Amino acid sequence: MYHLLRPVLFRMEPEAAHHTILALLARMPWSVRLACAPVSPSPALGQTLWGRRFPHPVGLAAGLDKNAVAVPALFQCGFSFVEVGTVTPRPQPGNPKPRLFRLPADEALINRMGFNNDGADLVAQRVHRWRGLGIIGVNLGKNKTTPNDAALEDYLANVRVFCAIADYLVINVSSPNTPGLRDLQAQEQLVPLVRAVLAERDRLTEGSRPPLLVKLAPDLSDEDLAELAVALTNIGVDGLIATNTTIARPKLHTPFANEPGGLSGKPLRERATAVVRQLYEATRGKIPIIGSGGVFSADDAYEKIRAGASLVQVYTGFIYRGPGIVREIADGLAQRLARDGFEKIEEAIGADHRGR
Ligand SMILES: Cc1cc2nc3c(=O)[nH]c(=O)nc-3n(C[C@H](O)[C@H](O)[C@H](O)COP(=O)(O)O)c2cc1C
Repeated sequence: MYHLLRPVLFRMEPEAAHHTILALLARMPWSVRLACAPVSPSPALGQTLWGRRFPHPVGLAAGLDKNAVAVPALFQCGFSFVEVGTVTPRPQPGNPKPRLFRLPADEALINRMGFNNDGADLVAQRVHRWRGLGIIGVNLGKNKTTPNDAALEDYLANVRVFCAIADYLVINVSSPNTPGLRDLQAQEQLVPLVRAVLAERDRLTEGSRPPLLVKLAPDLSDEDLAELAVALTNIGVDGLIATNTTIARPKLHTPFANEPGGLSGKPLRERATAVVRQLYEATRGKIPIIGSGGVFSADDAYEKIRAGASLVQVYTGFIYRGPGIVREIADGLAQRLARDGFEKIEEAIGADHRGR
């Protein structure tokens, strides 16, 4: 089905196509069934992380459903988890349009959306409504008007709103589209910020605490990534997401290549996998890593898993391949595990580091 729909959507302005599809999915979640067959994952793909059962490792990355309007339809696509956001404490419009560009020859996107979202309170009402449908992560950011030296207050405000309703929380300090945000990735800024957020989460919750993850940029040096990973693990972060979009422009073939913003999709794949590898090595696999960046196929997902990712996320691949991508990856992963003699996905996670 999607091969018929895609040319129509790709003739529309990218953001208009995005809103049209999200509105359709929000109103008619069952319509997904016309575009893809249900996912029935092999039991070998199931794993428990942070006390939550993931039937397979393929989730939806942040930014596609920023406002949590289409979560039921996204679970119908077969994703084993859906990350909503980035959400900021107060609603904000994001950057001026146009701010989303397709690069079809590169199977990539460039975006400078700038955290356009409905604000924490409204998004929380929706997340609350969707609880129980599946694992929902909430990706947290700061408002554009909040200066970096007050950023902690924004993250704390978000944690207060979401810590009782999210299955996991993500601190996003890696979007390139909020001026200065990435400066918060400096160790001397990030460690105290994350420590304070962890303390607030622990103060507000008992027993079942949502794990707190940090999403990192692919544009940090390998050395900085390794140091950050160790420092974050030591203060009790529960997981890392690698990576957000890149400001680098590796060999692109499309006219929009020079648009400012974050590049995602195929050209990001290799670097994002290298970052997963680096983080796994630095942390010795102590905390789960979610691999994000250029996952279009089972081979792409398997590469990230072998490099150290426990889970993977898809965004740009979903735009180019459609909802059938989830089943294709899940089925293909099960075949690759069997081919390589792994009985369970856990055996494949980080296998490259063990020389298997
Ligand atoms: C249009 C667009 C908007 C995005 N918005 C967010 C966001 O709000 N927060 C975030 O953490 N990542 C955001 N991302 C990054 C994705 O979550 C993902 O990490 C990145 O695109 C790499 O994966 P991909 O190559 O599969 O797209 C966005 C990506 C795109 C393409």
